[in-house]
Amino acid sequence: MDFLSWLTALESRHLADLRFPEVTKALRALSSTYVERRGRLGEGAALASAGKRAAFALFYGPLHAILLRAIATELPGATAIGGPLADLGCGTGAAGVGWAMACEHPPILHGLDRHPWAVTEANLTYRELGLRGRAAVADITRDPLPVGRAYLAAFTLNELGGETRPILLSRLLDRAQRGAAVLIVEPLATRVAPWWSREMAPFRALGGRLDEWRFACALPPLVAKLDRAAGLRHTELTGRSMWIAGASTSAATPTASS
Ligand SMILES: C[S@@+](CC[C@H](N)C(=O)[O-])C[C@H]1O[C@@H](n2cnc3c(N)ncnc32)[C@H](O)[C@@H]1O
Repeated sequence: MDFLSWLTALESRHLADLRFPEVTKALRALSSTYVERRGRLGEGAALASAGKRAAFALFYGPLHAILLRAIATELPGATAIGGPLADLGCGTGAAGVGWAMACEHPPILHGLDRHPWAVTEANLTYRELGLRGRAAVADITRDPLPVGRAYLAAFTLNELGGETRPILLSRLLDRAQRGAAVLIVEPLATRVAPWWSREMAPFRALGGRLDEWRFACALPPLVAKLDRAAGLRHTELTGRSMWIAGASTSAATPTASS
């Protein structure tokens, strides 16, 4: 199944029980949670209702897939990771598949998320896009992480509070020190990730590069319709990233899974 067919499958699945205006209303609420009511993210507010879950899957999922594909295409070495890709806080799997689809040889995906609905969606995403991989329920700040050649945390760190974010950051730093590739993506708006410069410093010291991205993009039709209806007005896709390509030899591939 190609990208557009995946979007069609998402549409039939998520608009089966909800009307378009209900999803639009939920998308407005979801956007406000991400931007203005960020304190509630740690409680799982983003995926708390069927409407918000549908809005996330139909709107932010495709946006994140397109953004990650564009970012991975630009970063040196990111399309040739040559080994499993662990997607931490995978949500519906969208960001991970965006990166995987940019790769010369799409890697096996290991998605982890604390939310069972997200994990079910991620497994459907992998299957519908014909990618090898499996998502599982886990707390990425506590449970063992899969062994990966590359690690992705896309829009995940900003959902963690000041107490748990350092835990995930130190796990990612540890993977990078052992030769894995690490890609962290967060929103461009500084107010959403005020901790960015400070907390990326250890990655920079290890050779990580920081980028800010703005991509002109024609949104897929349903995403564009939701964007207009919710008054969000995306004229471009934006994000910031930290990238460490890691060692290119399999000898440097991390072996521990804690
Ligand atoms: C904003 S979503 C991003 C999803 C996906 N990475 C994407 O870009 O579309 C953040 C995800 O992180 C997950 N998450 C937050 N804290 C987590 C934790 N401690 N363990 C596992 N997943 C977590 C949430 O359930 C949610 O699916």
